[in-house]
Amino acid sequence: MRLIRDAAEFQAAMLGYRARNLRVGFVPTMGYLHAGHQSLMAAARAESDVVAVSIFVNPKQFGPSEDLARYPRDLDGDLKKCAGAKVDVVFAPEADGFYAPGFQTQVEVLEATQGLCGASRPTHFRGVTTVVLKLLMLAQPTAAFFGEKDFQQLTVIQTMVRDLSVPMAIVGVPTMREPDGLAMSSRNVFLAPDERKVALVLKRSLDAMIAAAAKGERSRETLLQEGRAVIAEAPSVRLDYLELVDARTLKATDPIAAPTRGIGAIFVGKTRLIDNCAIL
Ligand code: PAF
Repeated sequence: MRLIRDAAEFQAAMLGYRARNLRVGFVPTMGYLHAGHQSLMAAARAESDVVAVSIFVNPKQFGPSEDLARYPRDLDGDLKKCAGAKVDVVFAPEADGFYAPGFQTQVEVLEATQGLCGASRPTHFRGVTTVVLKLLMLAQPTAAFFGEKDFQQLTVIQTMVRDLSVPMAIVGVPTMREPDGLAMSSRNVFLAPDERKVALVLKRSLDAMIAAAAKGERSRETLLQEGRAVIAEAPSVRLDYLELVDARTLKATDPIAAPTRGIGAIFVGKTRLIDNCAIL
């Protein structure tokens, strides 16, 4: 496995693979890798001749009051996990070398970033699309792999790649969960034992909506009431949002119709957690 810290060197290596007509699978990450990332690497490995992973905690996607400084980092551990997943190239740029002095470009998807996480994190997706397009230009992959856990992010990136005719496939990979159902996330490490227990309410609220929809309920408000009632059982949890959206457009629908996604975010203490599930 090759570790590259310099962007130009990474791009030259990746262009070399493409010149040899090799299928390149790319997994962009912010590190602190867990089984969710490992499933992305496995999906890339299954479809590619060469697998590249990037590890970069992107300051542009954190708001001024968010957790950039305390975001967990463990490059040594990450490199071991990448080696275990038979990754060929890891790109881990230095924090201050990635955006050159004078960097002034932003990439912005307009509609798909407006609601849901975009409502409480207004500059977040602009930071994500800016870094992801730059990473895609460096990695030049045949396909790039993103987790469905960040469902809005996946939709925003698919929209960007379609709108800008970026010549590659964007592959969504199902969410990996802990045995009790909690969606895997690098931020789960912040949860104290009592917070870890209540963090499950988001998944349980999604499950309640799945169950009601399975019994035939189609009213958006009735379903959301079911979901919110579960969250209310944990008074220490602050609900950021709970929504039912068309899985293709992320627009709210009433009555719901397939394909509908239930999607939400909660604060458990200082930690913000997100999750989503197919409802219909
Ligand atoms: O999902 C993430 O880890 C990040 O948002 C990404 C896509 C690597 C961009 O920094």
